[in-house]
Amino acid sequence: MAILDKHAILEKNATLLLIFSFLVVTIGGLVQIVPLFYLENTIEEVEGMRPYTPLELTGRDIYIREGCYVCHSQMIRPMRDEVERYGHYSLAAESMYDHPFQWGSKRTGPDLARVGGRYSDDWHVDHLRNPQSVVPESVMPKYGYLEQKVIDGQYVADLMRTHAFVGVPYSDEMIEEGQRDFAAQADPDSDYDGLLERYGEKVVVSNFDGQPGVTEADALIAYLQMLGTLVDFSTFTPDASR
Ligand code: HEC
Repeated sequence: MAILDKHAILEKNATLLLIFSFLVVTIGGLVQIVPLFYLENTIEEVEGMRPYTPLELTGRDIYIREGCYVCHSQMIRPMRDEVERYGHYSLAAESMYDHPFQWGSKRTGPDLARVGGRYSDDWHVDHLRNPQSVVPESVMPKYGYLEQKVIDGQYVADLMRTHAFVGVPYSDEMIEEGQRDFAAQADPDSDYDGLLERYGEKVVVSNFDGQPGVTEADALIAYLQMLGTLVDFSTFTPDASR
C-alpha cells in the first residue's frame, strides 16, 4: 500500500513525474548505447570480402549517377519469400565497403544484391540497350548510350583515395596501379596478374560489353557481375557467439 501511495504522489505532480520519466529514459538509453562503445566492431567479419576493383568502383559510380537505386534495392531481407527468390539474405559485411550503401527499399525492379553471375555479359548488354528485348513487359529505361561512352579511368585513383579516406583499405599500391588495373579488367588479352594479386583470383576479367576499349557499360556490367558473389555461402555459417 505504501508504495502505491508514493506512486500517487508522482502521478499527481507533473514536475516530479517529468523528472522521474527523464531519469528512467536516461538509464534505459545508457543501457542500450554504452555497450556499443566497447565493441571493436559491430559488423561480423566474413571471409571473401574485398574492396571493389577500380573498374567495379567506377561502375558503381555510374549505377549511382544513373539512378538505378531509384528502382532497385540491394538488400535481401531474411524472410522466406526473399531468400527463395534472391538467395542468402544480405550480411552487413557485404556492404562494409559501400560508401554510401545501396540497400534501399523501393523495388520497381528486382533486388540486385546477388545479381552477379546470374546472367551472361551479353544478356546485360542486350538488357541495358533495350530491356524490353529480353523482358517484354519491363518498364526499365534504355541505357544503350553507356556503351558509346569510352572512359580511361583518369580519375579512378582520386576516387579510390576518397574511399580510402572513409575507411576502405585501398593500399598505396592499389591506388598507384588503379588506372592500369581499371583497363586490365576489361581486357582479357592484357597482363592482369597484378590485378588478381591485389584483389584476388575471383575477380572477373572480361570484355564485358564485347566492344574494343573500355566503356561505361563495361564498368557497370563489371560491377553488376560481382554483386553478391564475394562471400561463399556454401561454407558460410553465421557466428551467433558474437
Ligand atoms: C524505372 C525503374 C528502373 C530503373 C531506373 C532501372 N531499372 Fe533495372 N529493372 C527494372 C525492372 C522493372 C526490372 C524487371 C524487368 C527487367 O528485367 O527488365 C529491372 C531489371 C533489372 C535487372 C535484371 C534483374 C534480375 O534479377 O532479373 C538488372 C540487372 C537491372 N535491372 C539493372 C539496372 C541498372 C544497372 C540500372 C541503372 C543503369 C537500372 N536497372 C535502372 C526497373 C528499373
